[in-house]
Amino acid sequence: MNKLAAKNLGRVLDLLNERLVFERAGVRLYDKVLSRMRNSGDPRIAALFERFEQNRNEEKEHEEWLEEQIRALGGDPHSPSEKSILVKAEAEGIEHVVMRDPNLLHDFHALLTAELSDNAGWELLMELASEFGDRDAKGEFKKRLHEEEKHLLTVREAVREMSLQEIRESFIDPG
Ligand SMILES: [Fe+2]
Ligand SMILES: [Fe+2]
Repeated sequence: MNKLAAKNLGRVLDLLNERLVFERAGVRLYDKVLSRMRNSGDPRIAALFERFEQNRNEEKEHEEWLEEQIRALGGDPHSPSEKSILVKAEAEGIEHVVMRDPNLLHDFHALLTAELSDNAGWELLMELASEFGDRDAKGEFKKRLHEEEKHLLTVREAVREMSLQEIRESFIDPG
């Protein structure tokens, strides 16, 4: 990360902080959604549980890894920058959808939005590291981007399955 940080330490810390805010929100989202999944009693939901739990644990690792990087660069992982406040508002918007009503399809939609941001965020970091020749940082970002890609696939699949199911049920003519 040193090569990248040498280009503009303040900006790099900002970027890492922005990512951190989103990763923290991701952990909270998954915790909430997992608790609902646990209580759903639906075998299709139960079948997804393990993958979602793995996603949650990877978000937690992303959060902790970012905190570590920020500290190593002399930054404070708990002091929000002007930019990270905006990101926080965005993440809170997504969390609001989940807190509003206990509907797992809405939850999965919210997670899908969060995962799209996660993917874009790590991709940007990876491209920056690549452009400025920081190979170590690039490898670390890339590893986490690959995890985000898998999160996106699992959540997208869950949204697709649940949406289809809901539509099918609404199509059944009781007469
Ligand atoms: Fe993540
Ligand atoms: Fe993710």
